[in-house]
Amino acid sequence: MDPSRLTDLHAYIRALPKAELHLHIEGTLEPELMFALAARNGVALPWDSVEATRAAYAFSDLQSFLDLYYAGAAALIHEQDFHDLALAYFERAHEDGVVHAELFFDPQTHTARGVAFDTVLDGLERACIEAQERWGISSRLILCFLRHLSEEDGFATLEQALPHLARIHGVGLDSSEKGHPPAKFARLFARCRELGLHIVAHAGEEGPPAYIEEALDILQVERIDHGVRAAESAALMERLAREQVPLTVCPLSNVKLCVFERLQDHNLKQLLDAGLKVTINSDDPAYFGGYVGQNYQQTAEALGLSRTELKQLAKNSLEASFVPQAVLDPWLLRLAAVPD
Ligand code: HPA
Ligand code: ZN
Repeated sequence: MDPSRLTDLHAYIRALPKAELHLHIEGTLEPELMFALAARNGVALPWDSVEATRAAYAFSDLQSFLDLYYAGAAALIHEQDFHDLALAYFERAHEDGVVHAELFFDPQTHTARGVAFDTVLDGLERACIEAQERWGISSRLILCFLRHLSEEDGFATLEQALPHLARIHGVGLDSSEKGHPPAKFARLFARCRELGLHIVAHAGEEGPPAYIEEALDILQVERIDHGVRAAESAALMERLAREQVPLTVCPLSNVKLCVFERLQDHNLKQLLDAGLKVTINSDDPAYFGGYVGQNYQQTAEALGLSRTELKQLAKNSLEASFVPQAVLDPWLLRLAAVPD
């Protein structure tokens, strides 16, 4: 590709005010910070160097990634660590034109190692406040339950979250999808809905379209995280288009985890063309080779997305966020002012 056009596309994507809605904060732990934290905390990592860590990031499926992701998260111990992690993400997101981010965090990954729930939340929240002050980025925190664990374990985690609900905006469901359908967490999510929390869930990344239907009908999610396997069911595609359920799609993640062989094979444009409310996100950018701007850019190049389509994707991301209309309106005006 002509390098001047590439620079133009990069600048164009950066200029689009956008929200990032599918971002695991633990998945932004770059190997350099992982090693610095491990040294600071006296934690042993399974790799000898930053280079060896990056070289190990060759995944065959979701589980092969999760094994390394949980190993890397062991470097995070203190409130300051969670703060530093999130602040580094916000700085990077700001460069990509992110005006609002809804961050997933996995408390069970940390409480199981003896790190207190409050330590995680306090560190993340402090970074959220600083990001607003430094870069004007607004943010929300979404607690994700690990679906490979039991619903009972999820209830115990919710119990720990109860004193902090003013600082937690919603709940999600992540980790190993296959064999852990949304229905496994029906009672837990019913309780979360009663508590007034926003509800999202990963579904249809590796799992079948039926998992997306369960997430909608049983968990009553407001957004589907991933959802790309919806394309296997015409009826579900029609429903998602009709109900305008946002999908938080993560193209580089899908290629890294072998959901699609190449970015050129990704079905994002097919989903968009069918009228679904698709958004672009980075998932675990330290592991998947690109932050949100790179996800927009590489997908645009691979699928031949137009500027109008890129602008639509940014608009979808803002509209699919959990911020009130009054906050949304100025961003939508700014976006509308960007030429096609
Ligand atoms: N899928 C499921 N669980 C996850 C992911 C993902 O892409 N990233 C972090 N936890
Ligand atoms: Zn995810």
